[in-house]
Amino acid sequence: MPVRHPDIALPRLVAHRGLSARAPENTLAAVRAAHEAGCTWVELDVQLLGDGTPVIWHDASVQRCSDGRDALADLDLPRARRLDAGAWFADTFVGERMATLREMLALIDELDMGLNLELKVNRGRSAPALVDGVLPTLLDSLPSERLILSSFDDAALAHARKQAGPGLLALGVLFEGIPRDWRARCETVDAFSVHTDWKRLSQRGAQAVREAGYRLLAYTVNDPAAFAHQWDWGVQSAITDDPALFAGRLPEA
Ligand code: G3P
Ligand code: MG
Repeated sequence: MPVRHPDIALPRLVAHRGLSARAPENTLAAVRAAHEAGCTWVELDVQLLGDGTPVIWHDASVQRCSDGRDALADLDLPRARRLDAGAWFADTFVGERMATLREMLALIDELDMGLNLELKVNRGRSAPALVDGVLPTLLDSLPSERLILSSFDDAALAHARKQAGPGLLALGVLFEGIPRDWRARCETVDAFSVHTDWKRLSQRGAQAVREAGYRLLAYTVNDPAAFAHQWDWGVQSAITDDPALFAGRLPEA
């Protein structure tokens, strides 16, 4: 019997790492900015600190997006919280802190937004530990209609499906280009959606994904004119750093 998925109304645009063109990526400020800009969904990355706390962060280290230098795996929450995660972006964001998953979910829910949460399994980190650290809080905090859990990591997706069971959690399979074995990889985890690099997407690939019944999202689209024909190929959502670029350029939902 085909797996039933949550009834998710995908928007045309999803703000990548929050509104990362205008605010420090993956922070509460970036999500507030996305909301103020009219976005209804955001994409964010989640990882574990060394003490097991799930936090919203993209890189393996804090060097690029804070005033620290450590690997995320070497930090506990008190040390991570002392970092400034806003000053690197602009003076107006001085004092912004690394967000825990828990406080980010509270904000997303307060703003009534949807979340595409990417399980970011950086080199040497455990996929099952990340899923086990994230899933209980996640499933408790957001309704399934406002949540996609996505990853490049097949082991993370498989573990998430095993823990969540069929139907209640939408899983998104992330690819760079759509690989030959995409269908098997999606079927294994009862995927809801395929998320691919728009620069590597072909019309044929898009059609195959759509005909198989999966939603299709493209990242990271910051050139709406070059991307425009991909709406006709069946891409439903563009994950973008700067939704304002799309003003006057969106097809009907
Ligand atoms: O979810 C799409 C996109 O976020 C994947 O790439 O490196 O920005 O996490 P990255
Ligand atoms: Mg991501």
